[in-house]
Amino acid sequence: MEAIRIRGTGKPLRGNVRISGAKNAALPILCATLLSDGASKLRNVPALRDMDTTAALLRFLGRDVVVSAPEVTVAEASKPVRPEAPYELVKQMRASVLVLGPLVARYGRAKVSLPGGCAIGARPIDQHLKGLEAMGCTIKLDRGYVIAEGPGGGGRLKGAEVYFDLPTVTGTENLMMAAALAKGRSTLVNCAREPEIEELGRILNKMGAEVDGAGTDVIHIVGADRDKLQPFDHAIIPDRIEAGTYMCAAAMIDGGDVVLEAAELGDLEALALKLRHAGVQISAEGQNIRVKRDGPLRAVNVTTAPHPGFPTDMQAQLLALMCLADGESMITETIFENRFMHVPELQRMGASCALRGNTAVVSGVSRLFGASVMATDLRASASLVIAGLAAEGETEVRRVYHLDRGYEKIEAKLQGLGADVERVMGVSG
Ligand code: EPU
Repeated sequence: MEAIRIRGTGKPLRGNVRISGAKNAALPILCATLLSDGASKLRNVPALRDMDTTAALLRFLGRDVVVSAPEVTVAEASKPVRPEAPYELVKQMRASVLVLGPLVARYGRAKVSLPGGCAIGARPIDQHLKGLEAMGCTIKLDRGYVIAEGPGGGGRLKGAEVYFDLPTVTGTENLMMAAALAKGRSTLVNCAREPEIEELGRILNKMGAEVDGAGTDVIHIVGADRDKLQPFDHAIIPDRIEAGTYMCAAAMIDGGDVVLEAAELGDLEALALKLRHAGVQISAEGQNIRVKRDGPLRAVNVTTAPHPGFPTDMQAQLLALMCLADGESMITETIFENRFMHVPELQRMGASCALRGNTAVVSGVSRLFGASVMATDLRASASLVIAGLAAEGETEVRRVYHLDRGYEKIEAKLQGLGADVERVMGVSG
């Protein structure tokens, strides 16, 4: 198995790093191509394992997918579409559930494996299903699969009013895509407001639906008055979580000075405010973000919340940074029930951190030490890499396949900033 090996040099990160396109925007947009025929072109698509899994899923469904990073083209293939997402693919990436809305809206039926739980929590999809039912779908659960059928045994969905009991990112996206081909008007209330949802709204508008309010908590959608939407050509927004991860990495060692190219500070307000309180300088320079640390780090408290609150996807990386801050930080996770898998690993690197329910209490230490560590999810793995940059000695982060789901060329990008990082082969799991 592969691992990332980091030798702590004590030298701060300096230089420029280019931020890739957003994984969590590209995933729903790739699924939205199911709403049209003809060739859709996505640009600025990151080269990540999740993109390969989505391409494999779309091919399985009967689409013609050409990946030529950073571009992906999706078109209809000559064979008929099979509206079925099998367990083998969904278990590799739970975001595969994003094909459910488009498939049932376009083809009147879909059979999609239930994603099940994952390392960070139970992650049910009840809100997705409730919304589809409101649009006239019949939903059956059968041997691990959701079987959804449009009204009258496979007919066109009807616009509906849907209230989400809690904001869900992929739930909002699934229902936006379903509503884009439903008959009439839909109103989605208490929606998630992430920038990736705004981006999907832009795409659905390009495709011919009428979407208003994406990025706010109420979205109105008038479904296109035909049986399919039109293809599109679009460059994906920058990945705010990748950018945030490099912001934390830059702040790990005093003297860090890193320019994130093609990044959007407006999507990272909560993180930027917390980092500024911690003593890190952050400024927008045109299309870039500059991150500088020049002095001690102060402890800050953080509670994760749906956007525009502090992102759960940045909790682990900020926690790694707080391991080296002056004072005590309280880091509370409210989105997922099991998202502190990095804590015991960071403790092995010398961090002083205790878990009290859904809060990690971190007392800053003056040094971390390299160790062999591993994590069971993407962002936790990133936090261990960041910790390794500032640790004395060698850190080996195992189970790199988690990192490869969400960080394009992470070792090359860190090398470009002066870090001593390499990918090594043949390490036991
Ligand atoms: N939830 C329900 N019922 C539902 C849907 C969600 O109870 O039907 C709960 C979840 O269990 C969770 C909360 O609602 O407690 C929020 O979950 P959400 O549905 O918003 O998460 P998601 O759509 O499955 C996306 C991102 C995650 C990110 C979360 C939260 C994608 C592909 N994934 O997941 O990204 O952590 O939103 O912001 O967009 C990552 O990139 O590392 C990642 C895990």
